[in-house]
This record gives sequence, structure tokens and C-alpha cells, in this order.
Amino acid sequence: MVRHFAEKSLVVASHNAGKVREIRELLAPFGIETVSAGDLGLPEPEETGATFQANAELKALAAAKAADRPALADDSGLCVEALNGAPGIQSARWAGPQKDFDFAMERIRLGLVEEGTLNTRAHFIAGLALAWPDGHVEYFEGRVDGELVWPPRGLLGFGYDPMFVPDGHEQTFGEMEPAKKHAMSHRAHAFRQLVDACFKG
Ligand code: IMP
Repeated sequence: MVRHFAEKSLVVASHNAGKVREIRELLAPFGIETVSAGDLGLPEPEETGATFQANAELKALAAAKAADRPALADDSGLCVEALNGAPGIQSARWAGPQKDFDFAMERIRLGLVEEGTLNTRAHFIAGLALAWPDGHVEYFEGRVDGELVWPPRGLLGFGYDPMFVPDGHEQTFGEMEPAKKHAMSHRAHAFRQLVDACFKG
């Protein structure tokens, strides 16, 4: 059975200020106080899992146990069909230590050229794990499908947004107003499931 979140506060198990802010905003309507793993000085665990679920769960569990209260973590990435799902869980790492996403997008384009394929299908995945100090974890996953375009378009958004056009739309995520992207994104789908299962009622 799904465990309902009955506590008053939780740890956002991320050291990424942008992610922490986004998660805080999403949780604010439920009157849940948040503190980030960074604020608590918790170490950042190595993402050794082979799936989005494994990585989200290991981050959430490590923070919940260290802080002795529930913790929420996410893991996300872009999966390119013709590249067997790459960069996938390696999405952040493909941008290198400089976090250069022009370089990461170029890597994808070159990968498709090397494959000699016209298949530009891709999807974003967002996994969200809510863990308790006793080791219980709830996991939810959201997905948005679309096409890759070249050259990248748009200066809004982040990461791989400028080369991704969600199905049924003509703008890339990089060209869309944030509110429009947030209403349809992989992260929004995952959050809706989490809220319905754990925070409502
Ligand atoms: P992690 O979840 O911190 O391991 O990193 C996820 C990586 O996936 C980010 O650094 C981005 O490169 C990519 N990513 C995840 N979600 C999005 C998105 O909504 N738009 C663009 N890139 C994303």
C-alpha cells in the first residue's frame, strides 16, 4: 500500500539550487516545510544505480537516513531511441565538468550521424523517490515523448531543452514559456502522481 506523507517537513535531497527551488514551489501549497540536503550539510551520494529509479531511491534513502526524516529526490534525463536510450541516466555527465549542454547536444547529433539514422524520437524521464528513515520508499515516474531537432532553438529552459520538441507542439522546450513547459513536462507528470498518492487527503 502507498504510504501517505503525514509529517510536517521533508528534506529535498538535492544539492542543485534550481531543483530545490522547483520542488519547494511545488510542495508549498501542501503546507510542507522543506530543508535542502545542502543546508543540512549532508554528503552527496554517488549515483551508482543503473536506472532513474535506482538513482532517485538511493539519493532519497541516503538523505532520509542521515537526516532522520522523510526525503524527496529526483533523477531525470533524456533518452534517445536510436542511441539505445543514451544519454539517459548519464544526461548530466554528457555535458562534462563545464556543464556545457551545447557540447552535449552536439554529441547526440554526432551519435545520430554515426548511426546513419533518420530516427529522431526521444523522451525525457523524471523519477521521484520519497523515502522515510525506516527504509520505506515510494517511487513515481513521468515521461514526455517528442522529436529531436537540429540546430537547437530557444534560450529558455536548460539542458537539452533547445533540441526537444514535445509531440503535438512546434516549439522546442527551449522556446516555450516556462509555465507551458511545466504543465506538460516529465517532471510535472511525476509530481502529479506523487501528490495524488502521498500528499492529498
Ligand atoms: P540529474 O537528474 O541531476 O542526474 O540530471 C538530469 C540531467 O538531465 C540534467 O542535467 C539535464 O541535462 C537533463 N534534463 C533533465 N530534465 C530536463 C529538462 O526538463 N530539460 C532539459 N534537460 C533535462
